[in-house]
Amino acid sequence: MTSQTPRPRIILDCDPGLDDAVAIALAVRHADTVGITTVGGNVGLEHTTANALALCDILGVPDLPVHAGHDLPLSGSLEHRATEYHGRYGTGSVRLAEPSRPPASEDAVGWIIETVRAEEGIALVATGPLTNIALAFQKAPDIIEKFSQISWMGGSSNGGNTTPGAEFNSWVDPEAAAMVFGAGHPNLVMVGLNVTHTVLLDRPWIDDLRRRIQGTATEVFADLLDYYEIRQREMTTLAGAAVHDALAVIHVTHPRLLAGTRRPVEVVLSNGPARGMTLVDLRPMRNPTPANATVIEWADASVIQDLIGQALTVPGADL
Ligand code: RIB
Ligand code: CA
Repeated sequence: MTSQTPRPRIILDCDPGLDDAVAIALAVRHADTVGITTVGGNVGLEHTTANALALCDILGVPDLPVHAGHDLPLSGSLEHRATEYHGRYGTGSVRLAEPSRPPASEDAVGWIIETVRAEEGIALVATGPLTNIALAFQKAPDIIEKFSQISWMGGSSNGGNTTPGAEFNSWVDPEAAAMVFGAGHPNLVMVGLNVTHTVLLDRPWIDDLRRRIQGTATEVFADLLDYYEIRQREMTTLAGAAVHDALAVIHVTHPRLLAGTRRPVEVVLSNGPARGMTLVDLRPMRNPTPANATVIEWADASVIQDLIGQALTVPGADL
C-alpha cells in the first residue's frame, strides 16, 4: 500500500486475545477503522471488551469506538475458552491498565447494522467466533451485500487446533460460521490455520521487537507476544507464535501479501469429533460444487513479519 492509496474503511470484530491485539495494532496503523466490536471467545466478553478498550489507549486511539457484543455462541454454551494460550484475562501474564472509558454500547450487532446501512463499502474483518456477525446478518440481511469484503480469521483447510478437525473460532460457534458461509457474500475470505501457521514470530524476532519498543508506549506488546510464543511452543511443535488474526487484517490492508483460491466450504454442525470443522472441497472436479469463499493458501511471511514489527513500533523508534 503506497502513501497515496486510501486506507480501507474497516469494522474489526474481535476477541482480544493476544493475536487479536496485533490485529488491532495493524488496523489502527493501516486501516481507517470505523469501529471495533467485541465478542466472547478466547476469554469472556467482559475481558475481550476491556482489552480492546485498553489497547486503543495504548495505541493512541482512545476515541476509537468499541461496542460490546455477545459473550456466548448461538448454541448458548461452550465447553471452554482459550485461556491456555491467551492467559486468564486474554493478555498473557500482564494485566492491561484500566481502560480510559466504557464501551460505546453493549449492542455491537445494532451498531454494525446501523453503520453499514449508513455507509456502503466497509470491509468487515472478523478475528473471533462469528456470533455478532451471524446475528447482524440474521437481523438485517440487507447489510450483507453492503460490505466490500469479509475477511475472517477462522477455519482451516488442513486440520484444526482445538480439535483435530476444528479451528477455535469455528469450533466455538459453528452455527454462526455456517450462517456466514451460507450468506452468499461474493467476497468472503477464509484466513485459516493452513496459512496462519506459515507466518510465525520466533524468539529472536520477539527479542528484537522488545529491544526496539522497550520504554515506548507500545512496549507491552513485547510481553504479550513473549507469553504467546512461549505458550505456543509449550503446547505445539510450532517454531514460534502464529499471530493468526494479523493476517485477516493484512489481507484487507495489503492484499498482495496473501493469495487464495475460490473453494466450496462447509461447516460441520453435527455433534461429534468433527463439529466445527470447515470442510474445504479440494477435489479436482471438472464440475465442482460452487465456491462460497476464497480460501487463503499463501502468505508472504517475511514481509508480514516486518509489517507487524513496524505496526508495533511507535513512529520514530529506532527500526
Ligand atoms: O484459532 C486461532 C483463533 O482462535 C485466533 O483468532 C485466536 O485469537 C483464537 O481466537
Ligand atoms: Ca481471535
